[in-house]
Amino acid sequence: MSGTAAPWWRSAVIYQVYIRSFADGNGDGVGDIAGIRSRLPYLKSLGVDAIWINPWYKSPMADHGYDVADFREIDPLFGSTAEAERLIEEAHEHGIRVIPDIVPNHTSDQHAWFRAALEAGPGSPERERYIFRKGRGPDGAEPPNDWVSCFGGPAWTRVPDGEWYLHLFAPEQPDLNWQHPDVLAEFESILRFWLSRGVDGFRIDVAHGLVKHPDLPDLPPRRDPDAEPSRPHQDHPHWDRDEVHDIYRVWRKIADEYPGDRCFVAEAWADTPERLAAYVRPDGLHTAFNFNFLMSGWDAKDLRDVIDDSLAMLGAVGAPATWVLSNHDVMRHPSRFGRERVRRWLANERYVPEGPLDLELGTRRARAATLLMLALPGGAYIYQGEELGLPEVEDLPESVLQDPVWERSGHTDRGRDGCRVPIPWSGDSAPYGFSPDDATASPWLPQPAGWARYSVAAQTGDPDSMLELYRAALGLRREHPALGDGGLTWLDAPEGVLAFTRSPGFVCVVNLSAEPCELPPHSSVLLASGPLEDGLLPADQAVWLRQ
Ligand code: GLC
Repeated sequence: MSGTAAPWWRSAVIYQVYIRSFADGNGDGVGDIAGIRSRLPYLKSLGVDAIWINPWYKSPMADHGYDVADFREIDPLFGSTAEAERLIEEAHEHGIRVIPDIVPNHTSDQHAWFRAALEAGPGSPERERYIFRKGRGPDGAEPPNDWVSCFGGPAWTRVPDGEWYLHLFAPEQPDLNWQHPDVLAEFESILRFWLSRGVDGFRIDVAHGLVKHPDLPDLPPRRDPDAEPSRPHQDHPHWDRDEVHDIYRVWRKIADEYPGDRCFVAEAWADTPERLAAYVRPDGLHTAFNFNFLMSGWDAKDLRDVIDDSLAMLGAVGAPATWVLSNHDVMRHPSRFGRERVRRWLANERYVPEGPLDLELGTRRARAATLLMLALPGGAYIYQGEELGLPEVEDLPESVLQDPVWERSGHTDRGRDGCRVPIPWSGDSAPYGFSPDDATASPWLPQPAGWARYSVAAQTGDPDSMLELYRAALGLRREHPALGDGGLTWLDAPEGVLAFTRSPGFVCVVNLSAEPCELPPHSSVLLASGPLEDGLLPADQAVWLRQ
């Protein structure tokens, strides 16, 4: 980087737009590109550097767009390719970069390639672009191996001619065969299609899943997350295989050909920070979500370990850390932090809520966690609605649940709809400004009564609101030379308290203990997640100080 400014993505705050639920421009109850365009001034005033947009491509929506039928076309539900181009342009005019999602692990079963594969039959070249196999057992009636879908049930579906195809997610999402040259060539072309339309990078869906063991062996024995909380790396036939990096070395070269620091962020669920760091080596991807941070409970030791390990391992390969508290796949963090039990995640990264919810506590901790996240070295992700303090909607009626997880789990797992409810912008009742006044349909998931208090309009100008806390923190982060990329130094602190300095002259203290704590020497308070009491930092609060 000799002499030139560090690339923007080393310290960027990236706002996740779950397009279905962000803003509905045409009144059909589903968010769209027109909605995003109309809310660009909001995003600018919030102070984010970029937006990541969940899949907007042509899709039958079996998994809300993660089943892509055509990667070069926008689904009519969301708009058109021309409108996407306008959005990219307008976002740039607002100083906001745009990162779409790319879904390389699988296509929709309605993709032209998969339809051709079904038609062409066993043994055809068309089938080789996917993972088709004969079944086990005398008449091939058993799946080829014991792999399971992330959404529940077997990862194999049998087609009428007797062969089985692999889908690590829903049956409508057949896995591509990344050992096939057509697949590599096609994705190179898709990346270029969007890069030449001005996107600033891509979020890579299931980046750790593309390469499967060529023999497709059965799974290793299942691990018990309670018995093995530290999750040492385990060789796995389809997750996080070393060969996946060969693909990203090619992708990095493609991104580097375009001007303006285009970047990739990997959705890679790796067992350890070392394994995660492998994705962001200098010849690989640029950044990766730090899910170990997201999966930490409200526990000072856990958080400090994750922070130290992440900074050490990512720093060793020269990559910046990223920090993330919520996304469209997990329970919103005020609802996680508001529960007694510190930590409970299943092996497949699904959070299991346990015990009653104390939302006031969860919200207090969420405010503190935000100040921690935005003070740490590197970049950060904000999931739409977290700046409003939205809780998980845990009581959606079963009749409205849409996530395939609900059906596939045999109605044992309610799935991810509770964090995907359309966000409230204004007004006293649904659709809370999500859809225009003359909308022809209700929001695709019902918004709770009582969400008026979470709306952007209700919180704007209220200094105690979550929204104004985010605005203030993001504003300070832009101005303060200590924040963003760089390092940190831990300060001595009582048990349960995290305190660190960043140069020049910045201190962050987070109190995860049950008692108020003293503050280290400082000249003034820059920002606090809640009021100090007699100069002490109360439990479950955080503060930014000027040294
Ligand atoms: C990723 C996405 C998730 C999707 C899955 C399958 O994990 O974040 O929403 O269901 O991939 O594409």
